[in-house]
Amino acid sequence: MQLNKQSVYQIYVPSFADSNGDGLGDLAGITGKLEYIKNLGVSYIWLTPIYVSPMNDNGYDVAAYCSINPRFGTMTDFDKLIETATSLGLKVMLDMVLNHTSTQHEWFQKALAGEERYQNYYIFKDGTPGQPPTNWQSKFGGHAWHYVDKLGKWYLHLFDVTQADLNWDNPEVRAELYKVVNFWLDKGVKGLRFDVINLISKPKIFEDDTQGDGRRFYTDGPNIHSYLKELNQNTFGKYADVMTVGEMSSTSIENCLKYAGPKQDELHTVFNFHHLKLDYAGGDKWSLAPFNFMAMKQLFNQWQTQMQAGGALTALFWSNHDQPRVVSRLFSEGGNNSAYRRQSAVMLACATFLMYGVPYIYQGEEIAMPNAGFTGIDDYRDVETINYYKILRQSKSEAEALAIVAAKSRDNARTPMVWNGEKPGYGYTGGTPWLGFIKEAATINAENELNASGSVYRNFAKLLQLRQDYPALQSGTYEQLAAKHEHIYAYSRTLKEETVIVVCNFFNVKTSFNLENIGIYKLIFNNYNDATIHNTTMELKPYQAIVFIGGTL
Ligand code: GLC
Repeated sequence: MQLNKQSVYQIYVPSFADSNGDGLGDLAGITGKLEYIKNLGVSYIWLTPIYVSPMNDNGYDVAAYCSINPRFGTMTDFDKLIETATSLGLKVMLDMVLNHTSTQHEWFQKALAGEERYQNYYIFKDGTPGQPPTNWQSKFGGHAWHYVDKLGKWYLHLFDVTQADLNWDNPEVRAELYKVVNFWLDKGVKGLRFDVINLISKPKIFEDDTQGDGRRFYTDGPNIHSYLKELNQNTFGKYADVMTVGEMSSTSIENCLKYAGPKQDELHTVFNFHHLKLDYAGGDKWSLAPFNFMAMKQLFNQWQTQMQAGGALTALFWSNHDQPRVVSRLFSEGGNNSAYRRQSAVMLACATFLMYGVPYIYQGEEIAMPNAGFTGIDDYRDVETINYYKILRQSKSEAEALAIVAAKSRDNARTPMVWNGEKPGYGYTGGTPWLGFIKEAATINAENELNASGSVYRNFAKLLQLRQDYPALQSGTYEQLAAKHEHIYAYSRTLKEETVIVVCNFFNVKTSFNLENIGIYKLIFNNYNDATIHNTTMELKPYQAIVFIGGTL
């Protein structure tokens, strides 16, 4: 499989399409929408976890790995989904949550009941109340350890208290998890997204972190590369037609070159999140700071050139179910339901989709859905948001805490997909949705977008088609252009005689791009109807994105 010709559409299962009116998305709902996805031109759909779960973290707390959550449907529904997807030429990627299980999982329940064998499946440490083994913090706020009175032991949970970290140093755990992966591969799954997979290898010695929250001890941990090699050998390594992607939390290029390197004896591709931390003040997600555009350019350049030099592919993305909507996040004046909402959404896609890697679209991004616009804490459902709201309230007023949550909450991305403008269910549900809709649902919806002039959906499809049509956009060498330009992010992709040039104006200003030494042979993409090109310069309108083949006229 040629990995750099693939592209992925991410479905947040609870919020995509509800076929039975219970207010929660489901598998049959997805099957009914596959044509819509197929017509975008992607090759994969990635489904967030569909397994039995108490849903404290919306399925990322798995209670039974090889059974479907009854609220999402049945195994027959899943088989039908795979069958329909396959008939449309779409491959299915599943989310593998192997760093932790729900505390409702049978293994954890047996551990709680005192079975030592299952206590060794997790990270339990003897101790006394009030004195956790280390000072590490959970990524969802508060301590990363929880005390179980009746056992006299603490267990580690890097995420919610109901998500207990598995002990990958135990070979029996690894063997159990390989069985899980193989179960889904046997069912015809052709893609695997490994949730926070670079956190699975914990240190031999657990000690306090005097400099941070503990992450430096377990991120890209001591045995991570050997565990991923073993995972590969025992599961997907046998398949030539399976693509994997690892979600790498706070990782480094050095490690990603190994995770996704050309030997491909670990994974095929990686997600990293450094470009989505450029609006964190002092590294703190729960703060308000402007997005640092110049730092973004530097980061993209660094990751693109180094990963490509090492032949390692990254996921190209702005959005997922953990990130606020990118149009609201980057552009207070442009992205969100304003004159430039379409241009800005398309420009962002153009900037990332054509780089070296595998592009990802997160549901709703193709219709430029904005943030949720919630105004009260009761509107939110996300466990991380609710925890952090409480933490913020210790030092901030209600209004300040709500403003931060409104900008940062993961629920911004999780509002139900808006299929049409018809109240009250907007084509998503016949019942009461589990989470509220965006305020703009009457106008920002898939039906409107498909027919709109300058349609975001259609422009996304065009961009994905360019990747198929121009080999330079698959494997061509990336080079940043106009590195110092304060408004434009531009780059070229060169393969043999062919150079494709991408020029994106990230701001609500008119600006120009110097064409000196760059000839234009053919314009191949423009998110406006016209382009102003003189001999030596190109004038760009607000959020304009232009792609052309370099050469001489
Ligand atoms: C990943 C998921 C996120 C989840 C977390 C714990 O970051 O994307 O949604 O909460 O892992 O599983």
